[in-house]
Amino acid sequence: MHQLSFISTARPGAAPIDVEAILASSRRNNARDSITGLLIYDGKRFLQELEGSGPLVEAAFSRIKNDTRHRATVMLSFREVDDREFGAWDMACQKVEAVSGDGSFGDMVDNLVDQVPDANTKALLSSFVRIKR
Ligand SMILES: Cc1cc2nc3c(=O)[nH]c(=O)nc-3n(C[C@H](O)[C@H](O)[C@H](O)COP(=O)(O)O)c2cc1C
Repeated sequence: MHQLSFISTARPGAAPIDVEAILASSRRNNARDSITGLLIYDGKRFLQELEGSGPLVEAAFSRIKNDTRHRATVMLSFREVDDREFGAWDMACQKVEAVSGDGSFGDMVDNLVDQVPDANTKALLSSFVRIKR
């Protein structure tokens, strides 16, 4: 069982991102692949957790990376876990208010990034999410 987390930035466009449409295909595919997880969107950025069989999680991530609705995808972690943390959710979604500077999105990422062993990587990721775009 593997767990993958990544952050990305919604591609600015004429139309706002349709998160419901993303969730509809996510829930369909993830149910098929026994992938569970969580998607957080703050109006600008995404943070997603995917967990399930390693190869299936990797396959989902390579599809997701190529999606033109977002860009600057950065994997925060890919690690083996004993149990699912988001077991009951095919793809829970939380929309958080857009935050500026050191708001809750950055704190949330910090909590995830705590698991990254390398201090430099940790610092890089933590500052990445606080860049104002
Ligand atoms: C931020 C973001 C998160 C996504 N998460 C998932 C996901 O968890 N599972 C999934 O299958 N597709 C996800 N997608 C959609 C994929 O990029 C892709 O459009 C989809 O898997 C294609 O599936 P379909 O061929 O069944 O329409 C996500 C897209 C974005 C932009």
